[in-house]
Amino acid sequence: MSVQSSMSKRLPPWHEHIRLPSGRELLIRPIRPEDAGPIQGSFSLLGPEEVRHRFLQTLQELTPEMAQRLCQPNPKSEFALVAAEPLPPGEALIGAVARASLVPRTRDAEFAILVSRFIAGQGLGRKLMQKLVKWAKGMKLDYLQGSVLDSNQPMLQLADSLGFRRQPQDGAPGLVRVVLDLNE
Ligand SMILES: CC(C)(COP(=O)(O)OP(=O)(O)OC[C@H]1O[C@@H](n2cnc3c(N)ncnc32)[C@H](O)[C@@H]1OP(=O)(O)O)[C@@H](O)C(=O)NCCC(=O)NCCS
Repeated sequence: MSVQSSMSKRLPPWHEHIRLPSGRELLIRPIRPEDAGPIQGSFSLLGPEEVRHRFLQTLQELTPEMAQRLCQPNPKSEFALVAAEPLPPGEALIGAVARASLVPRTRDAEFAILVSRFIAGQGLGRKLMQKLVKWAKGMKLDYLQGSVLDSNQPMLQLADSLGFRRQPQDGAPGLVRVVLDLNE
C-alpha cells in the first residue's frame, strides 16, 4: 500500500500533506515543542508491544520531561518528523514519529520510528524511513542504523526492503542491528 501526496501547494522544508489508503489526511512535518503534550497524552494508547519495539524496553509512562526532550531535537545532530493531523501543533494528534540522531564521533546516525497501530500497514513507515534516509544522505553520513528486536518482523522486513543489512548485535541477545550503507 502506498501513501499519496495530496496537495502540491508550496510548503516549508520537510512538510508534506499525505492521504493514506484509508482516506485519512495527515501532515508530515518536523516535530515541534508543542507536540510534547499530544505525544505524552496519547502514550497510554500505545500497546505494550509497540512500546517495547520502539523503546526496546517496557515503559509505563512517558513523563512530561521525556516528551519535551523528544520534541526538541538538537538541530545540529538530530532530525525528527511526525505524521500529524493537519491542525496547529499542540492541537494535532500525532500518529507517527520518526527520528535519527548522529552517533557522537562517527559519521553514522541511529534511527527510531513508531507508527501507531491505528494507521499502520498503509505505507507511512516506509515513507518516513525514506525521509530519514534522505536526511542522512543530505548530512553526508556513511551509515544509518538501528536496533530492532529479532521478533519485530514488520520493522525487519521494512528495513530489508529499503536495503538495510542485518548484523548480529554483540552482547545484546534478541536484538538485530540493521545498517544502511549510505554510500552504496
Ligand atoms: C515497523 C513499523 C514502523 C512499520 O510501519 P508501517 O507504517 O506499518 O509500515 P508500512 O505500511 O510502510 O509497511 C512497510 C513494509 O514494512 C513491512 N511490514 C509492515 N507491516 C508488516 C507486518 N505486519 N508484517 C510483516 N511485514 C510488515 C512490509 O515489508 C511492508 O512493505 P509492503 O507494504 O510492501 O509489504 C510500525 O509497525 C511500528 O511503528 N512498529 C512499532 C515500533 C517499532 O517497531 N519501531 C521499529 C524499531 S525503532
